[in-house]
Amino acid sequence: MSRRLFTVGPVSVEPEVLQSMTKPMITHRSKEYKQLHGNIVEKIRKALGTDMNVFLMGGSATVLIEGAVRNGISRKCLSLTNGSFGDRFIDCATYNGKEAVPVKVPWGQAIRPSHIEGKVTDDIESVNWVSNESSTGVLSDSAAIADEVRNQNPDALMMVDAVTSAFAADIKVDKIGADAILFGTQKALSLPPGLAIGLISDRIIERSAGIPNTGYYTNFRKLKDNADVNYALTTPPVSLLYGLDYQLDRVLSEGMPARYRRHDRMASMTEKWADDNLNGLFPEAGSRSKTIGVINRGTLDFDTFHKALKEKGYEISNGYGEVKSSTFRIGHMGDVTPGTLAELLDTMKGILEEMK
Ligand SMILES: Cc1ncc(COP(=O)(O)O)c(C=O)c1O
Repeated sequence: MSRRLFTVGPVSVEPEVLQSMTKPMITHRSKEYKQLHGNIVEKIRKALGTDMNVFLMGGSATVLIEGAVRNGISRKCLSLTNGSFGDRFIDCATYNGKEAVPVKVPWGQAIRPSHIEGKVTDDIESVNWVSNESSTGVLSDSAAIADEVRNQNPDALMMVDAVTSAFAADIKVDKIGADAILFGTQKALSLPPGLAIGLISDRIIERSAGIPNTGYYTNFRKLKDNADVNYALTTPPVSLLYGLDYQLDRVLSEGMPARYRRHDRMASMTEKWADDNLNGLFPEAGSRSKTIGVINRGTLDFDTFHKALKEKGYEISNGYGEVKSSTFRIGHMGDVTPGTLAELLDTMKGILEEMK
């Protein structure tokens, strides 16, 4: 039975978007491909209000997170974490042989400029963090963090995992002024997984020239040479690019301010539901995610609850990391609407009543 996904990703893909990916194949060194690639880049720049380089490559978002680490850091970085995906950023750095000095912020709290006071010393080549921590449902103010990094060490690069905020929360890309803002297709773009997208500065590309072992697949200079002529470096998932091109038209016709307002509204609906029906949301008030509601379970038997929900045609997500057994998560991003979310929340309320 097919279920409507209110998961943290991959999320449901609308039938018309799936349909847009069934066009005949083209080769990735053709005129048609260049046109498709170039259109997508322009639409992403327009939607996010930036003129940064746009990298499109096969793989999940992590391939570009590793790419940023390999191209921007020769030895040492500062890695800010307030959850599992911040911890994973640290792993990406250390598994690639870099020293990642951790700044650990309690789970459920936002990363704030005060957390890095005095820490961005001259030997720190890059500061890395997650914009929207998917394990805890916390959205940090990346522009404020970036200002603090610049105040302390203007030469430090900045790498931001925007996997569950890009295209849903107004993260103010140009105000952040980061060197790498990284995400993929399977979250707030409501597309299948398989394509990593990066907004990349010229500064990190220049920096990579002096760094050994940047890899081939993740070599930012090679990626830039190809991106400049609207090519991917290696064979891209062309069908997914058809879908992205189609989806970006839908995004732009909704308009970004309206899209951000829709996500705000869905976050408020989930918050109210959690307060009215269970033990509220896990993260601190004031920094809550626009895309993921992390709900305190209390004594709820989540497995029984979720089984009943799946039987009614919906799927949500378990808790994650340290709060796996005390929370569960609802993803409300991409093509989810307040109307479809209201149906889910009503169904969830009904199941809670049946379980009493
Ligand atoms: C915040 C965050 N960062 C990184 C990732 C990893 O992304 P991917 O699986 O596309 O590599 C995820 C996946 O859920 C995520 O939520």
